[in-house]
Amino acid sequence: MPGLIEELAQLRLMAERELAQADDPAALEAFRVSWLGRKAGRVTAVLRGLKDVPIEERAGIGDAANQLKANLTALFEARLAGTVGVSDDRPAGLDYSRPGLRPSTGRAHPITQTLDRILEILTGMGFTPVSGPEVETVENNFGALNIGPEHPSRQPGDTFFLTPDVLLRTHTSPVQVRAMRAQEPPIRICCPGRVYRREAVDATHLCEFHQVEILYVDRGVTMRDLKGCLSTFARLMFGADTRTRLRPSYFPFVEPGAEVDVTCFLCRGSGCRVCKGSGWIEILGAGMVHPRVLANVGYDPDVWTGYAAGMGVERITMLRHGVTDIRYFQENDLRFLEQF
Ligand code: FA5
Repeated sequence: MPGLIEELAQLRLMAERELAQADDPAALEAFRVSWLGRKAGRVTAVLRGLKDVPIEERAGIGDAANQLKANLTALFEARLAGTVGVSDDRPAGLDYSRPGLRPSTGRAHPITQTLDRILEILTGMGFTPVSGPEVETVENNFGALNIGPEHPSRQPGDTFFLTPDVLLRTHTSPVQVRAMRAQEPPIRICCPGRVYRREAVDATHLCEFHQVEILYVDRGVTMRDLKGCLSTFARLMFGADTRTRLRPSYFPFVEPGAEVDVTCFLCRGSGCRVCKGSGWIEILGAGMVHPRVLANVGYDPDVWTGYAAGMGVERITMLRHGVTDIRYFQENDLRFLEQF
């Protein structure tokens, strides 16, 4: 019924003109009663009259009338609050009743968001966060962790040495060493932090990235505890249907050692391009703390056993959000960051 729709447009113009002229509280109240009042308001009357409109046209006209009421209510309230002066010389086409623009606010970087979530889960599981220095001794980064003098990661081509005895730590595992030297067992900690490697930067490698280390040493800790810890962590981090598998691997500071895979976040295990058809994605390295490492920090390996694990935060963030290039996290491009 175009007639009624036009009538609503006319009503709107009249109401806006009247509102523009109402410049004291009494006039504003009179406007409210005459246009928006429940009993005698003109807009209310239109809405009431809807019952007489043929049923097939009712929805369209009802929508237009409700819109008019919402617009006039917003204009009226703005005028009442004295925030918007409605005057006849306002620019044509500017709709004062539209919602305002959302102010741009800051938020945590996606890596910080993932780190926060990881720590929330781990502290919930009883791990106490501990931090250590990024500038570390060669002894803590390599020697105490049973990484022998000939190991390739000790080469200056792989590691940033500051002096022959001091370097930028290449992983968070030296925090284990510091924590165990500072505290008698049992110990249950997690160690977040930044690490550095002399890498050729590409879509999955950075020179400076983040890891979180997990360490639990107590009497009678077994591989089964490690598996239980990691599968609980993975389910909380990636979803309740996430499965975990351990593949044998080698790290000098654990024995046995494993690389840990979780069900692919995209295909949930059936195989896709992200997991290269396998259904699994690697997220961390882990294993039972090597008896030599326990002895190095002064724990008796005949009494104490433990597990350790280390995960890459950038890689986990890529998995969580389907990010295909790790370099985006360091470019600080707002078009990327605003999506998180
Ligand atoms: C380690 O660093 C071991 N310290 C982890 C560990 C701890 C194993 C305790 C056993 C017991 P790895 O070099 O694989 O392991 O690195 C661990 C994780 O860091 C990798 O799974 C990956 O997610 C991430 N990572 C490694 N290199 C890079 C890189 N260049 N850029 C971004 N992330 C990386």
